[in-house]
Amino acid sequence: MLRSLLLLSLSSYAFSAVFTAVADLPNVEFDFIIVGGGQAGSVLANRLTEISTNKVLLIEAGPSNEGVQDSIIPGLAFGLGNSPFDWNFTTTPQKGLNGRVIAFERGHILGGSSSVNGMFYTRGSSSDFNRFAKVTGDPSWSWANLQPYILKHEKWTAPADGHNTTGQFNPQVHGFTGFIETTLSGFLDPAVDSRIIQAANQLNGDFAFNLDMNSGNPLGVGWLQATNGHGIRSSAATTYLAPQFQARPNLFILLETRVTRILQTPGGEKLTLRTVELTSGNNNTSPRVTLTASKEVILSAGAVGTPHILLHSGIGDKKELAALGIQSVLNLRSVGKNLTEHPDFAPTFTLNIPNDIDPFANVFFDPALQAQALELWTTNKTGPYVWLGRLDHIAWVRLPEDSPIFQQFDDPSSGPNSAHYELALGGSATSITAGGSVVSPASRGSVKLQTNNPFDAPLIDPAYFESEFDLFVAREAIKGFRRFLSAPAWQDVFVGPAGALANATTDALLNEFIINSTTSGAHPVGTAAMSRKGASWGVVDPDLLLKKASGLRVVDASIMPFVPCAHTQAAVYIIAERAADIIKAAWD
Ligand SMILES: Cc1cc2nc3c(=O)[nH]c(=O)nc-3n(C[C@H](O)[C@H](O)[C@H](O)COP(=O)(O)OP(=O)(O)OC[C@H]3O[C@@H](n4cnc5c(N)ncnc54)[C@H](O)[C@@H]3O)c2cc1C
Ligand SMILES: *[C@@H]1O[C@H](CO)[C@@H](O)[C@H](O)[C@H]1NC(C)=O
Ligand SMILES: *[C@@H]1O[C@H](CO)[C@@H](O)[C@H](O)[C@H]1NC(C)=O
Ligand SMILES: *[C@@H]1O[C@H](CO)[C@@H](O)[C@H](O)[C@H]1NC(C)=O
Ligand SMILES: *[C@@H]1O[C@H](CO)[C@@H](O)[C@H](O)[C@H]1NC(C)=O
Ligand SMILES: *[C@@H]1O[C@H](CO)[C@@H](O)[C@H](O)[C@H]1NC(C)=O
Ligand SMILES: *[C@@H]1O[C@H](CO)[C@@H](O)[C@H](O)[C@H]1NC(C)=O
Ligand SMILES: *[C@@H]1O[C@H](CO)[C@@H](O)[C@H](O)[C@H]1NC(C)=O
Repeated sequence: MLRSLLLLSLSSYAFSAVFTAVADLPNVEFDFIIVGGGQAGSVLANRLTEISTNKVLLIEAGPSNEGVQDSIIPGLAFGLGNSPFDWNFTTTPQKGLNGRVIAFERGHILGGSSSVNGMFYTRGSSSDFNRFAKVTGDPSWSWANLQPYILKHEKWTAPADGHNTTGQFNPQVHGFTGFIETTLSGFLDPAVDSRIIQAANQLNGDFAFNLDMNSGNPLGVGWLQATNGHGIRSSAATTYLAPQFQARPNLFILLETRVTRILQTPGGEKLTLRTVELTSGNNNTSPRVTLTASKEVILSAGAVGTPHILLHSGIGDKKELAALGIQSVLNLRSVGKNLTEHPDFAPTFTLNIPNDIDPFANVFFDPALQAQALELWTTNKTGPYVWLGRLDHIAWVRLPEDSPIFQQFDDPSSGPNSAHYELALGGSATSITAGGSVVSPASRGSVKLQTNNPFDAPLIDPAYFESEFDLFVAREAIKGFRRFLSAPAWQDVFVGPAGALANATTDALLNEFIINSTTSGAHPVGTAAMSRKGASWGVVDPDLLLKKASGLRVVDASIMPFVPCAHTQAAVYIIAERAADIIKAAWD
C-alpha cells in the first residue's frame, strides 16, 4: 500500500525520502546505489542528485544523526565511542603492543565517521597528494590539480567567540563557499595558548610558527582548525545531507540497513558488479533483498567496511577466501591489505601556572562544570563545549635528515614537507598533554574475515609498531615534546613528566610507556588502494573503478595508497568531491 502510494506521488512529493526498512522503499530504478552513508557517501549522494535525472539510493547501516546530542555538541564528542553510533570494533591482539587488543572506533550513523570524529581539520602535505599522483600515474591526484576540490568542500567560518583571527590562519588557502564549516577555537585556553606561540617563536627550527598548516606545508606549530561552525559540529550529514538536500525527489536514503555483498549482474561481457544484497535485519538468517543500479554501485563503506563487503562478495585473495568457504568471484589479492594507521599516545607534563583564572580548566572531569558548560552552549553557543577540548595547536615535526634511523630504514614519508610525528598540544594551568602520533608510519596491517558470516566483525590488524621505525618515531615525538617544553616560555612553570611517563627514563622504558598506552588514531586507509592501471597490486584504478570489472567504484578512505601525514577527513572530502566529478563526467 505504502509502496503504491509512493509510486503514484513520485513526481510530486516534497518530503524527505528517508526509510529504515528495505521493504518500505518505493519501486524505483536507481541509477546509482551508494553503499555507506558515511563521510564520502554523503558527499556523493548530494553531488550526484544535483543532476535531477539521476535517481540515487544511499544505504547506511547506522541510524540518523539527527538529534544525537554527542554528535552535535563538539565538547561531548568523546561520548560517541562504544555507543549505538560506533561499530564497536576492536583490533586483533597487537604484537607491537605486547599483545594488547584495543578499541577501533568507526562511525555507525548517517555521516559515518564525520559524525563521530574529533573534527580536526588537517589536509596533510602537498607531497602526500603528489605521491598519490605518482603511484597511480594519474596527475589529476596531485596537490596542484586537486586545488578546486581542496577548496570546494570548505566554508571557512568565524570562531564561536568571534575573536580576532588575524595571524592565526591564512585566508588565501581556504574555501569560503563550500559545505563544511571550518574554524579556529571558539574558547581559547588562557593558560597555555600564549606560551605555545612564544615557545614556537623562541625555538624556531622544528617548532617554528606556521601561519597555516593547511597550505600544503604543515611543518611547525600552528593553530588547530576544526570542522565546526558557530560551536556546532559540521559533518557530511549536517551539510551535504541537510534537510533541503534530503528533500530532493531523486534522493532516497535507507538507514539501519546493511549491505552484505555485491553480486554479479548478468549481461555484460566483463564481470559486471552493479547488484547489492542487503537486509534491514540484524543477523545472518535475516531475509536478504537484491537491488541493481542501472549505472553504478559505489562502495563508500570506509576503510573497514569496504574491504569487509568486497571479501564477502568473493573479491579478494582467492586462497584466503577459499579457506573460509567463500567462492572467488575476482582474485584481487590487495583487498584488505596495506592497512595503514596512526598509533596515538599521550605524554603529559606537569605545569604550575600561577594566577590562572580559567574557570573551566577541569571541565572534562567535573560534573558541575559540565552542567555549566552545557548551559552556556545551549543558551548562546559559548563556553568550552563549542570546541572538542582544551586543545588549540598542533606541532607537525619531521625527523632530521641525518637521523641515524635512516641508515636502517627508508623514509616512509611522502617528501621533505611531510611530518613524521604530530603533537596536538592542549593543557591547563596544571599540565600540558601532547596527542602524539606517528603520522608517516612504515607498518602495514590488514582487514581480513573471521568467518563467512557478514554479521561477524572482521579481523582488523593495524600492525602498530610492527616496524621498529615507528617506535623510534614515537620516542622521538616524546623527546621532541620535552624539547618544546624546554623553551624559555615554559621555564617558570615547567615541573616535569607526569604519571607513567615519570618513570620512563630510558629508551627501553619509553618504549614500554608507548606500548602500554597507545590507542587507535582512527585514521585507517589503504585497504582498497588505487594503483596504476594494469599494476600487479591495488584494488581500484585511478578513476576509482574496481580493477578487472565494470559497474563498481570505491570512494572512501580505503582508496588512499598511503596515509597522509594528517587526520584523514580533509583528504576524504577532497577524494569524494573529485570522485563526484569523475562519475558525472563518465555518464555525461
Ligand atoms: C573516533 C574518530 C575520530 C576521528 N577524528 C578525526 C579528526 O579529528 N579529524 C580527521 O580529519 N579525521 C578524524 N577521523 C577520521 C575520519 O573521520 C575518517 O577518515 C573519515 O570520516 C572516513 O570517511 P569514509 O567515508 O571513508 O568512512 P566513514 O565516514 O566511516 O563511512 C563509512 C560508512 O559506511 C557505513 N557502512 C559500513 N559498512 C556498511 C555496510 N555493510 N552496509 C551499510 N553501511 C555500511 C558505516 O556505518 C559508515 O557510516 C576520526 C575517525 C574516528 C572514528
Ligand atoms: C556498541 O556498544 C554499546 C555499549 O555496549 C551499545 O550500546 C551499542 O549498541 C553498540 N553499537 C552497536 C552498533 O551495536
Ligand atoms: C585584528 O588584529 C590585527 C593584528 O593584531 C589588527 O591589525 C586588526 O585591526 C584587528 N582587527 C580587528 C577587527 O580588530
Ligand atoms: C534474526 O533476524 C530475524 C529477522 O530479521 C529475527 O526474526 C530473528 O529473531 C533473528 N535471530 C536472532 C538469533 O537474533
Ligand atoms: C602494498 O603497497 C605497496 C606500495 O606501497 C605495493 O608495492 C604492494 O604490492 C602492496 N601489497 C599488496 C598486497 O597490495
Ligand atoms: C552567553 O550567556 C551567558 C549566560 O547567560 C552570558 O553570561 C554571556 O554574556 C552570554 N554571551 C554572549 C556572547 O552572549
Ligand atoms: C614508578 O616507579 C616506581 C618504582 O618502580 C613505582 O613505585 C611507581 O608506582 C611508578 N609510578 C608510576 C606512575 O608508574
Ligand atoms: C607497562 O605495563 C606493564 C604491565 O602492565 C607494567 O609492568 C609496566 O610497569 C608498564 N611500564 C610503564 C613504563 O608504564
